Amino acid sequence: MSTLVTGIAELVTNDPTLETGPLGVLSDAALVVERGHVVWTGSAAGAPDADTRTDLGGRAVVPGFVDSHAHLVFAGDRAAEFEARMSGARYDGGGIGTTVAATRAASDDELRGRLHGLVAEMRAQGTTTVEVKSGYGLTVEDEARCLRLAAEVTPETTFLGAHVVPAEYASRRDEYVALVCGPMLAAGAPHARWVDVFCEPASTHAFDADQARAVLEAGRDAGLGLRVHANQLSAGPGVQLAVELGAASADHCTHLSAADVDALAAGTTVATLLPGVEFSTRSPYPDARRLLDAGVTVALATDCNPGSSFTSSMAFCIALAVREMHLTPAEALWAATAGGAAALERPDVGRLAPGARADLAVLDAPSYRHLAYRPGVPLASALELPA
Ligand code: NIG
Ligand code: FE
Repeated sequence: MSTLVTGIAELVTNDPTLETGPLGVLSDAALVVERGHVVWTGSAAGAPDADTRTDLGGRAVVPGFVDSHAHLVFAGDRAAEFEARMSGARYDGGGIGTTVAATRAASDDELRGRLHGLVAEMRAQGTTTVEVKSGYGLTVEDEARCLRLAAEVTPETTFLGAHVVPAEYASRRDEYVALVCGPMLAAGAPHARWVDVFCEPASTHAFDADQARAVLEAGRDAGLGLRVHANQLSAGPGVQLAVELGAASADHCTHLSAADVDALAAGTTVATLLPGVEFSTRSPYPDARRLLDAGVTVALATDCNPGSSFTSSMAFCIALAVREMHLTPAEALWAATAGGAAALERPDVGRLAPGARADLAVLDAPSYRHLAYRPGVPLASALELPA
């Protein structure tokens, strides 16, 4: 069955062939969807017929947000840690242990309820693709369990056994890395598309360059694509390691040296910026203009997690990117859609051109600019179309 969507005041396609700017914007537009995919876009006046019609009454449509970095399998709450940070405490990843303890103690159904609830919360705010990491189990069984649950909600599942060194391995760090690269990876890989590591020598909880390299190479040998938590707390080795190994994405990029920017510009790794983290940890925002001006592909994601960024709102991240990191509204929307798709190597999402998945986000507004112009207002939602 085909559906004609009309009443679109502004349609953002991210289709570069339209030659209407990088967002491929069409005004007074229409779009036809068939079998879950876009089959036609154009001006409403020239729209073809279809089996059914949906009229959006003059609202804007953008590609559903692609949230390429989230940690949604967890139990517990760290509001007190957030409150302490707002009074001056620093974020160093140490609080992750609190969530690990709560997650290990939780039943499958408790974790599932939280996970599915967060995915629904995201969808209600316009996110149609989400990546979900493990990383709060940190035992062979718990990491596999978290990935099995993640696979219930998305194909973009990421093994993050190397999130932090759990307390019971604090004096045996190399032993823990061997566990991650061996039995834990073997148990997790069947449920994962990606492997990730928190590469941050500046944190006593995270991993140095050699340990991160070992984890990433083991993941690659197991057939997984690579992602890196890089340069969150310091201008450490994470970004350059990610580029050297051809990772799909280097995430955070809060502290960047000139050599990091040069490496990203010369390589294929997407720089995924997570401004919800800077907001919630009271940290300086990354120099996004420097990345964009160097030609680096930039993505925006929420990093939704109970510690450093407990937001599920891509619109909020877009507003932060515009206000705090000096992206234009168009650059921020592109990063939150096509940029996220690039970070996940998903050519079928993040755009609304013929052949793409029909993942539409509709805005209660006439233009995508309102996403940043009206911060905190729930304008975006995923559009449910007849099957
Ligand atoms: O991306 N930096 C490492 N991991 C997460 C935070 C997880 C947590 O604090 O629970 C991040 O910021
Ligand atoms: Fe993260």
